[in-house]
Amino acid sequence: MNIPFFSNKTSGPLMDQGESTPEHIAIIMDGNGRWAEKLGMSRAAGHKEGVSTVVKIVKAAVDCNVKVLTLYTFSTENWKRPKKEVDTILSMPKEFLQEYLPTLISNHVRIQAIGDMENLPFYTREAVQYAVARTSENNGLQLNLALNYGSRHELLTAMKEMFKDLNDDKLSLRQLSEKDFSKYLYTAGMTDPDLLIRTGGEKRLSNFLLWQLAYTEFWFTDVLWPDFSEGEFLHAVEDYRQRKRRYGGL
Ligand code: FPP
Repeated sequence: MNIPFFSNKTSGPLMDQGESTPEHIAIIMDGNGRWAEKLGMSRAAGHKEGVSTVVKIVKAAVDCNVKVLTLYTFSTENWKRPKKEVDTILSMPKEFLQEYLPTLISNHVRIQAIGDMENLPFYTREAVQYAVARTSENNGLQLNLALNYGSRHELLTAMKEMFKDLNDDKLSLRQLSEKDFSKYLYTAGMTDPDLLIRTGGEKRLSNFLLWQLAYTEFWFTDVLWPDFSEGEFLHAVEDYRQRKRRYGGL
């Protein structure tokens, strides 16, 4: 993970693009395992290389002025993997933050977590909560780590909370709006993603941000996450900028 982090870059192909650069990009970082297996390496090596890509892509997002980057780091379904692999993936946030938190701080990155943090190992939770607290005043890129995240679980939990409030007359059923419901989600207060990138060749959502992706533009690539580069990222952003979003209108 010895990669130079942020440059002092002040210009580049996507700097100062104004309105149409996506404000919020969400990424399903798929393909670590296959990348490693192709090279005869362990799946753990693939996840470690995946962290190097995270570093490059966070830097690229800062450089092109993206406001929010949400990374699908560990899903509620990933517990089905062998314990050794689960432990490896869940140790990645701590390793990443131990090495890069000072650089993230000096680049004004604000770290947030979405997902059910309670069932994560203590070392993951502690590292992430520390980083969230330490960066809470920063006003640069918001980096959301989706950890033990599953959209159906999020929606069900939100509905339960909302029903409680309806029952306690804190909300009116008649006036209930989409905006009201959104406040019960992990992503409360965040804008919905403008662009979803999925690497690794699969074309599915895998229980990621089902509510929030309602009008998001999708970009799929066969490139495996460890091979995903700043150039690919900029390509996806550029492709997004050519699109016309109509939100069901004309
Ligand atoms: C999917 O690839 C990837 C994951 C389940 C884990 C992603 C996690 C990282 C890249 C580490 C992120 C760390 C930080 C700090 C954000 P896969 O293993 O399912 O790949 P495969 O489909 O080739 O088997």
